Amino acid sequence: MDTPNTLLENNRSWAKRIEREKPGFFEQLSTQQTPEYLWIGCSDSRVPANEIVNLPPGEIFVHRNIANVVVHTDLNCLSVIQYAVEVLKVKHIIVCGHYGCGGIKAALDGQPHGLIDNWLRHIRDVYRFNTEQLDAIADPKQRTDRLCELNVVEQVDNICNTTMVQNAWGAGQELTVHGWIYRLEDGLIKDLNVSVHAQNK
Ligand code: CO
Repeated sequence: MDTPNTLLENNRSWAKRIEREKPGFFEQLSTQQTPEYLWIGCSDSRVPANEIVNLPPGEIFVHRNIANVVVHTDLNCLSVIQYAVEVLKVKHIIVCGHYGCGGIKAALDGQPHGLIDNWLRHIRDVYRFNTEQLDAIADPKQRTDRLCELNVVEQVDNICNTTMVQNAWGAGQELTVHGWIYRLEDGLIKDLNVSVHAQNK
């Protein structure tokens, strides 16, 4: 089992390897970050942003929470979006959900889970917006997976409607919002083809 000490050893060999492969990498990166992507994903340990798209430090600005939800009143997520859009001027915001999401499953199982049920209300709202379509799917796993997709679509819409993104588009800033979903079973991402790149909604 990995102990915290093992992690620190891992860190030292990782830093050494990067420095050997790209001398001056950390020194250069320490002065500024210019990522083109903001990633909004699930906290799930199996969906690490940088790793699954094979990008090094400095390339993606990341926000993760349970079930990759963008709530209009969540100052944490909104602040990340504001900084990414207004200061870093990222060109793409990617919401990446994943099939088999525990948060989505918990929102559907009808069991009490404590405090997190308040957070999962947002997922239940997504279900409510799409009741007809979801109730027509007989297989529970397929229904959950479809809700994982619909949740991403909903969050893309929420991002597009933030004042930060509306203002950026109003000012002619180049910015596209994308909805993707990751499959744990094969490590592949599917583009849900719901990208929005201007106020054309
Ligand atoms: Co998840």
